Amino acid sequence: MRTRPLKVALLGCGVVGSEVARIMTTHADDLAARIGAPVELAGVAVRRPSKVRAGIDPDLVTTDATALVKRGDIDVVVEVIGGIEPARSLITTAFEHGASVVSANKALLAQDGAALHALAEEHKRDLYYEAAVAGAIPLIRPLRESLAGDKVNRVLGIVNGTTNFILDKMDSTGAGYQEALDEATALGYAEADPTADVEGFDAAAKAAILAGIAFHTRVRLDDVYREGMTEVTAADFASAKNMGCTIKLLAICERAADGESVTARVHPAMIPLSHPLASVRGAYNAVFVESDAAGQLMFYGPGAGGAPTASAVLGDLVAVCRNKIGGATGPGDSAYTQLPVSPMGEVVTRYHISLDVADKPGVLAQVATVFAEHGVSIDTVRQHGRQDGDGEASLVVVTHRASDASLGGTVEALRSLDTVRGVASIMRVEGE
Ligand code: NDP
Ligand code: HSE
Repeated sequence: MRTRPLKVALLGCGVVGSEVARIMTTHADDLAARIGAPVELAGVAVRRPSKVRAGIDPDLVTTDATALVKRGDIDVVVEVIGGIEPARSLITTAFEHGASVVSANKALLAQDGAALHALAEEHKRDLYYEAAVAGAIPLIRPLRESLAGDKVNRVLGIVNGTTNFILDKMDSTGAGYQEALDEATALGYAEADPTADVEGFDAAAKAAILAGIAFHTRVRLDDVYREGMTEVTAADFASAKNMGCTIKLLAICERAADGESVTARVHPAMIPLSHPLASVRGAYNAVFVESDAAGQLMFYGPGAGGAPTASAVLGDLVAVCRNKIGGATGPGDSAYTQLPVSPMGEVVTRYHISLDVADKPGVLAQVATVFAEHGVSIDTVRQHGRQDGDGEASLVVVTHRASDASLGGTVEALRSLDTVRGVASIMRVEGE
């Protein structure tokens, strides 16, 4: 074993960073044995230097993250600040000053992954980010390395723990969205501002990263179709139950049947209770990967939290340190296919549509005609009149597979019918 330690600069010492520092200290001997050299925490950049941080030598703490990454003797920068700036500038400076980078920052990787990979390559350094998608669950490395000889066609999963907790709560207790969100906040799953989670931005960033790696192409955050889960109601869960389904916020990345394009999307969807994703409870994550040779693979585990996320960061740290000692770099960017990302309108799936209609003769036929005119085939229809005597009925239509554009045209035409009083909900049905 070499005796000169590898020096690590830790940028951020919050939920994840504090656990990274703890594990680096408590597992120091094992890490050294696995890497072939000791790793030394050379500095810790934070925003509030006076905050007490258990197990961290106060002399290592600085508010000048830029000076830390510019020191010139840093081997690896671990970025766990989050957000776009100053993380992006700090990572750029780290490469320019000879360090490799480990990051957990999905927002930054989804937005600027291509440019950061190019910088890493230019400076012959590593950029690893296993923790950016699904916390502790190994996903990036299996896609980048283990499946590098296969052809991935689909990645489908639950990649946000906060929203899975909320939806699971709504499903299992009948709670409304706000009540379930309040509980998620009280338990520390949801942040004070839960927008990134509940509006699907967090999952969309993860979908962009997964799709890019899985299909060896470039998928930016803006390419990912996104719908949050704030509109999901108890009535939607009741409808789902009637169909033998539950509702999950899914990230779905697919290669088109002709192999010439890809799609990436995040939205709530009904999935059958028999599907393994239906039994992913609480704040857990699970991701299905479907490939030509391997078939179906499922990855499951804690997708968030300090220690689980730090586990993925430490795995990257060990890999990057081993590369450094071996005088090599690991796999870099592999966006060689340049497959275009198709718009959501071209996505084909099934739909569950809930309508409020006038309860009188001919309405069902009128509605069915609109579906037929738009080339959307109906699988099942369920109608029941209301007891409140308002002359309306609830009509639930489940379609066969149709394009999102055709479904959109159908719904627009339905809204213009006098006999359709309202479109109560539209939800995609996946996993069949
Ligand atoms: P926290 O908000 O808990 O921690 C952020 C840390 O960054 C804090 O220590 C903060 O300092 C420090 N910081 C903020 N701004 C600056 C700055 N300008 N200069 C130096 N330090 C700064 O975030 P998390 O630990 O939860 O998340 C970190 C990253 O990990 C994010 O990219 C996140 O998306 C990702 N991630 C998080 C997961 C989780 O479960 N929390 C799961 C998977 C990924 P101070 O302590 O002084 O406030
Ligand atoms: N807010 C994210 C979640 C953290 O709930 O899954 C992990 O990326």
